Amino acid sequence: MKLILAGSTGHLATEIIRQALPNPAITSLICLARRNTTLPPNTSSGPNLSKFENKFKSVICSNFTSYSEDVKKELEGAGGCICRLIAVTPAKLNTMPFEETRKICQDYAAYGIETMAPLASTTKPFRFIYVSGVNAERDQAKKPWILGEYSLMRGKTESLILSHAASSNNTIQACVAKPGLIDVPGLDSFTAGIGKTILRTVVGLPKVDVRQISACLVDQAVKGFEKETLLNEDLVRIGEMLLADQENETS
Ligand SMILES: NC(=O)c1ccc[n+]([C@@H]2O[C@H](COP(=O)([O-])OP(=O)(O)OC[C@H]3O[C@@H](n4cnc5c(N)ncnc54)[C@H](OP(=O)(O)O)[C@@H]3O)[C@@H](O)[C@H]2O)c1
Repeated sequence: MKLILAGSTGHLATEIIRQALPNPAITSLICLARRNTTLPPNTSSGPNLSKFENKFKSVICSNFTSYSEDVKKELEGAGGCICRLIAVTPAKLNTMPFEETRKICQDYAAYGIETMAPLASTTKPFRFIYVSGVNAERDQAKKPWILGEYSLMRGKTESLILSHAASSNNTIQACVAKPGLIDVPGLDSFTAGIGKTILRTVVGLPKVDVRQISACLVDQAVKGFEKETLLNEDLVRIGEMLLADQENETS
């Protein structure tokens, strides 16, 4: 199966690439981003990723609301899924006007599902995973007290993706993943670590380890969705189970 990872240069994407490449069900991994995606460095416990280099392709896209013909060609025949990770995370909200954030988080995702699904393999429904966040609010009448406008915009995007799939006559299946804070061991700076601790303790955000969420998303992309919305607790539960199975197999 050909898997497309859109937004392949980010923190979560790097771990998804590490876990997707050794997966025998994935025959081709298209890494779509505005800049070159490189093979992640090997970890001490993981396999040597250069063994799977032939499955890996970096595709640069300069416009995420109008793909060039060359980009479309690379996306053709995706048998299963796109895992969509392009976003402006709350930590970067202050770096641009909100309208730009909305365009990146919402317009790019809506254009992505509309454009990629017709290019996919026609033998099976096209699977689309949209990675959102625990605080995204679909009910536009309920503005959360923290990151209100951002949470409503991300919730509206979830609804857009799900309703696009619902009206596709089962040619598209969509899933929304709603992680809390994603823990990337060894990567967070001291300041980011303090910020995350405050968010966990004061705001009560749940957390998920980057390996757990990545294992879960790769598995759901390959085998199909357990449910339409995967909450943080689902991502932890499924990811933990898959990682424990992998450890048992190797020991
Ligand atoms: N990190 C968390 O704790 C957390 C928690 C909950 C939900 N999430 C969600 O999980 C997903 C992945 O998060 P992450 O932490 O891996 O994010 P990240 O490291 O910031 O990566 C975001 C990705 O989006 C791309 N992107 C951003 N602006 C873009 C633009 N204008 N045009 C094209 N691409 C653009 C980035 O490309 P460049 O590398 O070129 O900038 C990168 O590939 C996001 O949907 C995020 O909202 C994250």
